[in-house]
Amino acid sequence: MFITFEGIEGSGKTTQVALLHDYLVKKGYSVIKTREPGGTMFGETLRKIFLEPKLHVFPLSELLVFMAMRAQHVEEVIMPALQDRKIVLCDRFVDATYAYQGYGRGIDLGIIETLNRLVTKGIRPNLTVLLDCNVDRGFRRKTVLSPSMDRFEKEAVTFHRKVKKAYVKFSKEDPKRFFVVDGRGSIEDIHEIIREKVEKLLKNYGI
Ligand code: TMP
Repeated sequence: MFITFEGIEGSGKTTQVALLHDYLVKKGYSVIKTREPGGTMFGETLRKIFLEPKLHVFPLSELLVFMAMRAQHVEEVIMPALQDRKIVLCDRFVDATYAYQGYGRGIDLGIIETLNRLVTKGIRPNLTVLLDCNVDRGFRRKTVLSPSMDRFEKEAVTFHRKVKKAYVKFSKEDPKRFFVVDGRGSIEDIHEIIREKVEKLLKNYGI
C-alpha cells in the first residue's frame, strides 16, 4: 500500500504523515515513513545542498536532480518496502514535480511524465492525500515554524499560487486517487479525517 501526501508550503502535510505513521505503528501495521526530496542517504545529502537559498539552479537541472533522487528512493526504499507488503507513507512524490517544475517552472509536462515513468518503474500511489491550504495561510504557518526560508519558500507568491492551482487541478482530474482535506481544521481533526479514510482503504484491500 503506497500513500503519498502533497500540498503547498506550510500546508501541514509533514505533521500529518508523522501522526498517521505513529497511529498505524500503534495499531500493529508494518509501516514506513519517508519523504522527497530525500528518503535515502543520497537524497538527504542532496536535499541539504539543493534547498540552500543562495543556490542558483536552472529549471531543467532542478528537474533532473529531483528525478535522480527519486530513482534512488524508488530502488532503495519504496520498491523493497512494497515488495515486503509494508504500508509506505511518503511526504511528496510524483505530483510535486508536475506541480512545482511543470506548472511552477513551466517545464513541459510530457518530459516530466516520461522521466517519472522511467524512475518510478510504474509505481503509483494507491492514495494521495492533498492538504489543501491557502497560500497566505501556508506562508504564515511556515514562517512561524521556521523563520529561515529555503530556495522554494523564497519563490514569489505567484509561483506558489500556480503550484496550489496545479494540485487542485490534479485532484479534480483523478478524484479516485486524490483525497482532498481542508487544511484549515485543527491538527487533530485533520488527522482523524485522514485516519478514517486510510483505515477504510486498508479494509477494502484486506490489509
Ligand atoms: P518539503 O517542503 O516537502 O520539505 O519539500 C521541499 C521542497 O521541494 C518543496 O518546496 C517542494 C520541492 N519539490 C519540488 O519542487 N519538486 C519535487 O518533485 C519534490 C519532491 C519537491
